[in-house]
Amino acid sequence: MEALYLKKFGSPQDAFEKATIQLGDPSEGEIQIEVESFGLNFADVMARKGLYPDCPPLPAVIGYEVIGRIVAIGERVDNLQIGQRVIAMSRFGGYSTHVNTPAIAAVPVKEELPAGDALALVTQACTAWYMAEELVKLRTGMRVLIHAAAGGVGSLLVQICKNRGCEVFGTASPSKHQLLTSIGVDHPINYREKDYFSKIQEILGDHKLDVIFDPIGGKSLKEGIEMLGPIGKMICFGASTFTEAKGFIPKLRRFLAFGFYHPMKLMRNSQSLLSANMLRLGDYQPDYLNEILHKVVEAYEKEEIKPIASTAFPATQLSHAHELLESRKSTGKIVVNWE
Ligand SMILES: NC(=O)c1ccc[n+]([C@@H]2O[C@H](COP(=O)([O-])OP(=O)(O)OC[C@H]3O[C@@H](n4cnc5c(N)ncnc54)[C@H](OP(=O)(O)O)[C@@H]3O)[C@@H](O)[C@H]2O)c1
Repeated sequence: MEALYLKKFGSPQDAFEKATIQLGDPSEGEIQIEVESFGLNFADVMARKGLYPDCPPLPAVIGYEVIGRIVAIGERVDNLQIGQRVIAMSRFGGYSTHVNTPAIAAVPVKEELPAGDALALVTQACTAWYMAEELVKLRTGMRVLIHAAAGGVGSLLVQICKNRGCEVFGTASPSKHQLLTSIGVDHPINYREKDYFSKIQEILGDHKLDVIFDPIGGKSLKEGIEMLGPIGKMICFGASTFTEAKGFIPKLRRFLAFGFYHPMKLMRNSQSLLSANMLRLGDYQPDYLNEILHKVVEAYEKEEIKPIASTAFPATQLSHAHELLESRKSTGKIVVNWE
């Protein structure tokens, strides 16, 4: 099999190397997939920059999700068959032509399902679904702030929140505001302006936010909590802010900028500080993750969610795919195809 290794932390051009390696047979409970395409997630950018604590030791094949065909099955797999087209989570190993992954992390999909949609359903839609449908109970009229709302996870969060009748504030770089409006965001906000929180407060008037989905972290989380009303819920699920910090002191500053929250203070206003990490969910409750994967595929088939248009690259241009994701210019899913 061929794999695109992360051989060293750094720029997209220097970080990856193609290599041919042997992949063993799938173990008990595993399937082997011949990969048609794999998806990029922002965590891959963090991993490439050495900022992702869960990244395996280098050299490593990263990659959380693939679409492809089952070519081998380990013992005790009775719900999947050789030849089936599946989407699957791979706990790394996705940047390769073949991957072994637990059968519980895979779901069969239709032949005609486009790879871009399919791959967005795996990590991004599952993350959005877990947070918006499982961690919080969204109700009509709730005022919800979604950061990076034009991105993979963000655009799916927007759709779920709009389906639930929420009023959505969505942040993105200004060039993406038209897209935000087209997917239903009521209030597009440019969070690259210093005082963007005061703009949100202006729109809110006397109200406060009910729910905030924050993958940025640092100052954004702290300022968000200040705008959260009683019963409000803050869900933190990323720390993109760290990608901008070079060196120990800037990183420390960003770490401290998150703030410290005493439970007594949160309790007084019945507020919740929640978090999501899909890797942990997969590690500790794989059956729950499988249930969510089935739910998002079902929601897609019922047209309740629809990933926004994806961008595809051939495997020879993995570095360009990484560059695009890091540039903040991408919208939706970035997909890499094996020729
Ligand atoms: N906890 C979990 O299990 C989990 C799972 C999946 C994803 N995530 C997190 O969710 C976030 C979104 O992931 P995704 O894969 O869907 O990516 P994405 O949102 O499609 O792409 C990243 C986007 O984030 C925005 N952004 C904000 N601050 C940024 C910064 N400092 N550097 C670069 N981009 C920045 C950029 O758009 P604009 O500037 O236009 O907004 C950029 O286009 C990431 O933080 C990721 O780590 C967490």
